[in-house]
Amino acid sequence: MPDTRGSIHGQWSSRFVFILAAVGSAVGLGNIWKFPYITGENGGGAFVLVYLVCIALIGVPIMMAEILIGRRGRQSPINTMRVLVADEQANPAWRWLGWLGVVTGFLILSYYSVIAGWALAYVFRAGAGLFTGADADSVSTLFGALLGSPESMLAWHTIFMVMTMVVVARGVRGGLEKAVTLLMPALFVLLVLLVFYAMYQGAFARGVEFLFNADFSKVFQHCESLESGGPASCRFTGEPLLIALGHAFFTLSLGMGAIMVYGSYMPGNASIARATLIIVAADTVAALLAGLAIFPIVFANGLEPAAGPGLIFQTLPIAFGSMPGGRLFGTLFFVLLTFAAWTSAISLIEPAVAWLVENRGIARVPAAIAVGVLAWVLGIGSVLSFNLWSGESFQLFGKTWFDLMDYLTANILLPLGGLFIALFAGWVMSRAASRGELRMGDRRGYRTWRFLVRYVSPWLVVIVFLNAIGLI
Ligand code: PHE
Repeated sequence: MPDTRGSIHGQWSSRFVFILAAVGSAVGLGNIWKFPYITGENGGGAFVLVYLVCIALIGVPIMMAEILIGRRGRQSPINTMRVLVADEQANPAWRWLGWLGVVTGFLILSYYSVIAGWALAYVFRAGAGLFTGADADSVSTLFGALLGSPESMLAWHTIFMVMTMVVVARGVRGGLEKAVTLLMPALFVLLVLLVFYAMYQGAFARGVEFLFNADFSKVFQHCESLESGGPASCRFTGEPLLIALGHAFFTLSLGMGAIMVYGSYMPGNASIARATLIIVAADTVAALLAGLAIFPIVFANGLEPAAGPGLIFQTLPIAFGSMPGGRLFGTLFFVLLTFAAWTSAISLIEPAVAWLVENRGIARVPAAIAVGVLAWVLGIGSVLSFNLWSGESFQLFGKTWFDLMDYLTANILLPLGGLFIALFAGWVMSRAASRGELRMGDRRGYRTWRFLVRYVSPWLVVIVFLNAIGLI
């Protein structure tokens, strides 16, 4: 019976550690790098509002669903799905859900590591004092130099991937649990500090207005900056809704089994609902703080909010370059950003590694190496997307390899995985099973969750999809 199932990979030492690990997975580049730049590209406040609605109505119920599925199965997502399909005598096709997640995780890690490599590179640039007195031009030049050098981007990508493999190979409990305890709070403190800087030195009111003033004429407006930070060109499309939805999944690490596999190591007596609310709150606060730190600097320096993936690398160095102690804080910031990315990256490959250990009898070390090397190879395409392969002749569907990976995973594969997770937990699993696993004393709470996961989350995902492909 489910209660006696245990994970062969071990268990988190406490409820608190589970929350830390899940926050470590959720808070990452998605919050600090991606959220500000996609908000900039999709018109600001209206986009933020749509994103927050997605978090509340889709993110929260699906996170609970993912954790409960993981804890009930107590194995890698692929095997967990197999076990639960047997428990519920469901259609065996549901087992593909585990595979979908593993593939998605691979694809995400491949480009995630490249961007994390930028953060790592910036630790040394900040440490060497390269930002001192920097203005918008010098910062763009510095960033352009990194993008223009495939060798150095490849080197940083390699270093980051090795860091990820080392931790996963040693098992999560060894080093990362401890690191996360110290470093995540430090990242929050530093973000707050940056917000204070933005408050005094940046165009704070404009930044706040951009983030929180929902101008609904912009709900459907998507802008992209022209070559080298020139003025943005905008068009009307359903895409911002899809991007907000996709980002809700991405930032909460949902839809690919990362939270499921972490849930499978969760102590049996911990409350899934309470853990979910804490994880979601921490993740949302981190993203909003990043936005509050960045947009005032963007506006005060005449930068372009729709600058794209380089946004934080072109704004924060200006702040560090002019604040007292900026060299120290700048270095520290990029160290913490790297850590945030690191604790997310390990959750991206844990599902595949756990499966290799369970099914192929491979030890963790070779399993982590195999998965990491494969993702590393795929990542080379993303490295080249910013230089040698940036031209049109290398594009597919009008996107570079990096853009394509990002679009495919965040906007299509994660919402699809999340949709099926919701359908499985809401429609396939029996009431007794989900209720037993959630252990919610509060009957209203359970009913609300079940209603959301059956009727609201799946429909919203479907509607946004249909809208984005122009069917409604
Ligand atoms: N949530 C992570 C971030 O915001 C990225 C991630 C996505 C991690 C999916 C695991 C699974 O950076």
